[in-house]
Amino acid sequence: MVSAPSPVPLHALPPRTPRFVQLHHEDQAAVRDELLRGLRAPAAFTAPKYLYDALGSRLFDAITELPEYYPTRTEAGIFAAHAAEMAVRVPAGATLVDLGAGNCQKAARLFEVFKPKRYVAVDISVDYLRDALAALQRQHPALDMVGVGMDFSLSLALPAEALSAGDGGDPAPLVLFYPGSSIGNFTPDEALRLLRDVQGACARGGAGGGLLIGVDRVKTASVLEPAYDDALGVTAAFNRNLLPRINRLAGADFALADWRHVALYNAAESRIEMHLEALRSVTVRWPGGERRFARGERIHTENSYKWQVPDFEALLRAAGFQGTQVWTDAKDWFSVFWAQA
Ligand code: AVI
Repeated sequence: MVSAPSPVPLHALPPRTPRFVQLHHEDQAAVRDELLRGLRAPAAFTAPKYLYDALGSRLFDAITELPEYYPTRTEAGIFAAHAAEMAVRVPAGATLVDLGAGNCQKAARLFEVFKPKRYVAVDISVDYLRDALAALQRQHPALDMVGVGMDFSLSLALPAEALSAGDGGDPAPLVLFYPGSSIGNFTPDEALRLLRDVQGACARGGAGGGLLIGVDRVKTASVLEPAYDDALGVTAAFNRNLLPRINRLAGADFALADWRHVALYNAAESRIEMHLEALRSVTVRWPGGERRFARGERIHTENSYKWQVPDFEALLRAAGFQGTQVWTDAKDWFSVFWAQA
């Protein structure tokens, strides 16, 4: 007689550990060239990704706690109020791909309602994800978790090994999660390119996939400008922290005392712009070159585009998404969109 195998109690299973795939490798020479190209341009600029070194990431976390910076808490309120309605759109058993996952907390709050089968946290460095994912795995031992280190703003080629459990079953629907209005840090053309990549990725997964994305709305300069130039000076520190970072990465000799933070709303472009403005005439040197900045001259360090709902819906349709649903806070300050792939 063959006896039925006795069930293995959960606590007897080996603890599950997240998998990690690092695809992005920093090329120091390319970084220096990119920074110096921007600094030599007639209207000097740097890409916003350089704001996020270890200190910059912590300063950004502090920004999200500021009374003036409404986006994070407004978006959290929308998720808290409408997660059950969102769950009607988000298929259970999906692979949830979190773009720019950071500390993974925003997605983690939705596991209970969305019931994903796998959680894929994407950020530029897996080192940043390691501790957060390990802690999450202890709280959700049944969920398959993968950390992917990639710069998805360059290309969103999600590695097959991150998306499959290797069990040969049907592909799970892919749900991409892009909260925080980080899409606003891309120009509309760049945003369209990224959203087309996202739509293509969702469409390659099982039926029912799509994108859940948070988007900051157009509003008056009297609300927007303090959100990017707070009374405590945290956003100023976040922006000015770029200068020592450029010194480290490009061997430049920026002096912090020569520069101030400027944030202004450009209504014609529907975007907040952050700049660093020279307080006096200064010459900045780096190996093999230099540039003189006149007093008042600026380095453009970030755009944060704000969207009207119909314009963002049109962008999603242009990217190939089929239908949309929108949830908004009572003040119409922020929206979360579901876009069906
Ligand atoms: C990450 N990103 C959506 C923020 C924003 O609001 O554009 C970055 C930021 N810059 C200054 N404050 C916050």
